[in-house]
Amino acid sequence: MQVCTTHTRPTRLFLLEKEEAGEYTPDFTFSFDDYYGDYLARQKAQGKAYYQGLGIERDDAEGRRRVVNYNHTFFGAPHVALLFMPAFGDNVRVAGDIGMYGQTFLLSCAARGLGGVPQTLLGLFAGTIREFLDIPDEYKMLFGISFGFPDPNASANRIKMDRVPVTESVTFHS
Ligand SMILES: Cc1cc2nc3c(=O)[nH]c(=O)nc-3n(C[C@H](O)[C@H](O)[C@H](O)COP(=O)(O)O)c2cc1C
Repeated sequence: MQVCTTHTRPTRLFLLEKEEAGEYTPDFTFSFDDYYGDYLARQKAQGKAYYQGLGIERDDAEGRRRVVNYNHTFFGAPHVALLFMPAFGDNVRVAGDIGMYGQTFLLSCAARGLGGVPQTLLGLFAGTIREFLDIPDEYKMLFGISFGFPDPNASANRIKMDRVPVTESVTFHS
């Protein structure tokens, strides 16, 4: 595994440019179209709460694009950790390891008063980032975590995302 943390300033405009040019170089495929049932319903509810919390109407395409573009500017954070992994087999096990690392990283940030935003969207630019930071081809990018001291007044930080109750997400056997 390789974690690259970089100051975000040099990369901000660069990722926006790639987005506007539609130049995506992901290592792994992902589509919200693959979601179904409860997962689709939860994803829609989360999106709705997020856009509503930011005051963006459903038909405001420009507003929605502006919000998506926060990703390319790392939500204004000064640093981003980019999580790369060596490719083994079907990659599932090592991807799980990286997910656990990411969670621990987020908790460590919180323990120090920092805030982190996990961003799978950054994986759309894996090839571009690899080239920019001179990372060997054998490392595949999963996601990034932008981090810094959170601004308590930012509207995104005041949104309360619901969580499904444990009784709904866990099946207990006895
Ligand atoms: C693994 C993971 C990847 C995520 N990727 C993105 C992303 O690419 N872009 C984004 O805007 N939000 C993404 N999110 C959601 C936000 O980072 C954040 O978790 C969400 O707004 C809920 O905030 P909360 O966990 O503080 O309630 C992701 C969340 C997780 C857990």
